[in-house]
Amino acid sequence: MKIALIGFMGSGKSTVAKELGGRLALPVFELDEEILAASGRASVNEIFDRDGEARFREIEHEVCRALEEENALIISCGGGVIHNDENILSLKRGAGVVIYLRTRFDTVSSRLRGDAARPLFKDLSRAQALYSAREAKYVAAADVIVDTDQRTPAQVAEEIISALKT
Ligand code: S3P
Repeated sequence: MKIALIGFMGSGKSTVAKELGGRLALPVFELDEEILAASGRASVNEIFDRDGEARFREIEHEVCRALEEENALIISCGGGVIHNDENILSLKRGAGVVIYLRTRFDTVSSRLRGDAARPLFKDLSRAQALYSAREAKYVAAADVIVDTDQRTPAQVAEEIISALKT
């Protein structure tokens, strides 16, 4: 089983991925960590500052492609993975299932208050605009949509598992 979690920054992808990994006994793959390793930079901020967002997206795409042949994995994606339709095709290759963790903007902004690690969440009104621009893309990419507001990562993981059984 290959499960990819998508959604805006702060939607809980990494935490839910760990919950799912534990419940389904599958390894968890953090796309951002792999991008960082491939970039040779120390942080995502540094990739954006020194190499630019376009370079980040290029590496993100390469990492998605490298995962095409995997079939027993939980993948926690960065929020911008939906920028390239080919990334979604790669994630779905080999019966991969894409799950959108849908979370209201007020919820993600309260979760990420004070966060300095995300270059695209530094300015609240820009982040809000990005959220609005991306919403339809997450929905279009998703095989399953799960709402996460006011729910624990464990509850979200349980809902995903139930949805996969039906
Ligand atoms: C991004 C989300 C981040 C990271 C990078 C870009 C985005 O990952 O990939 O800062 O474009 O939404 P998280 O969604 O895990 O914060």
